[in-house]
Amino acid sequence: MTDQLIPTRRAFPADDPIFALNTEAQARKAVGEAVLNATVGALLDDSGQLVVLEAVMDLWRDLTALEVAPYAPIAGDPAFLKILVRRHWPLLDTAGAACATPGGSGALALSLRNFLEPGQAVLTTAPFWGPYATLAGENGMQLTTAPWPAPGGALDAEAWESALRRLMKAQGRVLLWLNDPCHNPTGRSLSAADRMALMGVLREVSGLGPVTLLVDFAYLDYTREPEAVAAALADYAALGAEGRVLVGASLSLSKSLTLYGARCGALAFPWCGDPALQAALTQSCRGTWSNCAKAPQSLLLRLAQDGKAQARLAAEHRHWSDILAARALALDVALGIEGMAALHWQGGFFVTVPAVDPEATGGRLKAEGVFTVPLPEGLRVGLCGMRAADAPLLAKALRRVAAAR
Ligand SMILES: Cc1ncc(COP(=O)(O)O)c(C=O)c1O
Repeated sequence: MTDQLIPTRRAFPADDPIFALNTEAQARKAVGEAVLNATVGALLDDSGQLVVLEAVMDLWRDLTALEVAPYAPIAGDPAFLKILVRRHWPLLDTAGAACATPGGSGALALSLRNFLEPGQAVLTTAPFWGPYATLAGENGMQLTTAPWPAPGGALDAEAWESALRRLMKAQGRVLLWLNDPCHNPTGRSLSAADRMALMGVLREVSGLGPVTLLVDFAYLDYTREPEAVAAALADYAALGAEGRVLVGASLSLSKSLTLYGARCGALAFPWCGDPALQAALTQSCRGTWSNCAKAPQSLLLRLAQDGKAQARLAAEHRHWSDILAARALALDVALGIEGMAALHWQGGFFVTVPAVDPEATGGRLKAEGVFTVPLPEGLRVGLCGMRAADAPLLAKALRRVAAAR
């Protein structure tokens, strides 16, 4: 044990649990075992290769030295920020208070440090993307949850109201991270009615103290229902424009442009031009990563000026959304054949299969060569990394392990 390491930093697992499962799956596959690896968090084609959007890569190859090498401005290139915000809300003519971040993860981290005091808790959904808890912990904060609706069920507005009121009472402010639409890990979005109900509660609670809603838009380009995604964006815009709840967005180029490794995104509050908020974000950037990578910001500027590339990108997004939809449908059909309920994927890279004891069930599946990610609420299945043809195998294995309990 390294004595120099302070005591609170000594008991972490050697590897991120999802990456560790993925490594084990790959190792077993490499020695010839038939393995179904549904732990992967990146989009793979049916031969297991990483999907890289061609329209993006063509732009990337054209970047010049001066679009790559210089420092970007500390808070990011204002033109980049505006273009990224307008990808989501085309009618806006400003990004508001905003800064570039290394992916959505950077945006989430900065939101903690600017909207909560140390030791306070951020509210999110259960289930949630696991690193949310890591981000909270690394920033000296807690994470608390309220339930995401079950498949076919409605939002438990009472539970949300009591969670929001409890937090407001305890800490005098509330920060909510909401990964909607295209939620990781359920693959479902809030219905229009659920979103209205939640926004109503947020409005009410904002009468008691400052409320910040950060919508985390990691997967919007991969959906079965682009119109519903557009409607959700319009709902959040309406809430933001009212000015009672501070509405911000965590934006990312990781999935949307398959630029996972370029580490680029933004934290933006399009309906808030407060110079104090902008100054706080810029200060956070300087004191955390100084400034973000310039190349992906330059690429987005090029994309905005290239109608052909935009059309190619939209076609690629449709193509891969269709593939994900086919995988989700194949899984629902296979689950149905095995007597299990459908999961009704709407968007994103994942679905979650309910399980009674997810850790134990996941362990038994793993023993059979089927790798999923156990969560407290069930088993996360990466549609992004499996083939539609694998769905019957997964469903059969699930039924076998459930029957063996
Ligand atoms: C729900 C959710 N939010 C945010 C992120 C952040 O990704 P990145 O930091 O690569 O933008 C991810 C990545 O998997 C995610 O699933």
